[in-house]
Amino acid sequence: MESPALSSLDRSPVKDVLDRLHRQARGDIKHFVRLAPRFVLGRLRGQAFGEIVSPAAMRECFIPIDRDGGRLLYLTARAIGARHVVEFGTSFGISTIYLAAATRDNGGGVVVGTEIEPSKAARARAHVEEAGLGDQLDLRVGDALETLQELDKPVDLLFIDGWKDLYRPVLDLVQPRLRPGAVVIADNIFTFRRELRPYVEHLQSGAGGFDSTTIAIGQGLEYSVFRG
Ligand SMILES: C[S@@+](CC[C@H](N)C(=O)[O-])C[C@H]1O[C@@H](n2cnc3c(N)ncnc32)[C@H](O)[C@@H]1O
Repeated sequence: MESPALSSLDRSPVKDVLDRLHRQARGDIKHFVRLAPRFVLGRLRGQAFGEIVSPAAMRECFIPIDRDGGRLLYLTARAIGARHVVEFGTSFGISTIYLAAATRDNGGGVVVGTEIEPSKAARARAHVEEAGLGDQLDLRVGDALETLQELDKPVDLLFIDGWKDLYRPVLDLVQPRLRPGAVVIADNIFTFRRELRPYVEHLQSGAGGFDSTTIAIGQGLEYSVFRG
């Protein structure tokens, strides 16, 4: 029998769905190999990430947060009692499941997910429901800069993991809705060190109202607390 002392991340059905999705995400490698020449050429030309690869070109790729990063999302949301979470870039729903499990374990809440590629959004919804977390999901399909215009509750936690040139625009869009003490976590800081330097410098300068540091988990997470 499973111990009730286990976190819901370590119990069925959340654990089973996450285990399977993390395993399936290893298949991303074959898509990366196919896209590599286009990516290298684009970088040499100085193109932004969004100009090199469209969401449609990457519709089969999970490109998820890794397990340690996912657990950090869960633990942070638990620690601050997050009930209203916003996520930029849902993909197939791996990070969404970590966040939705935390809002449920906090007594109930909602993760506003955003995904521009409709086929990915449909699969994300199915995965979150399979994990038993469908009631925690408000999935908005389309460009996050449009779909996040309306946020009716103060935001406790913002997870930024969509296309890299949109990190700052999404932060600026959501910042007026952040509550004091809200946490903003952004993924892939090491992968896109050059592109994301202005984002990191803005947050670490203190000028934007944040205290911030880069954490060496997975591909690098910028971990920022909003002073309000
Ligand atoms: C790195 S993946 C997200 C992975 C996900 N957070 C996880 O950990 O499982 C980035 C996703 O952002 C989506 N995306 C890109 N531009 C977007 C936009 N403007 N609005 C909403 N989603 C977008 C892409 O289609 C892609 O699925």
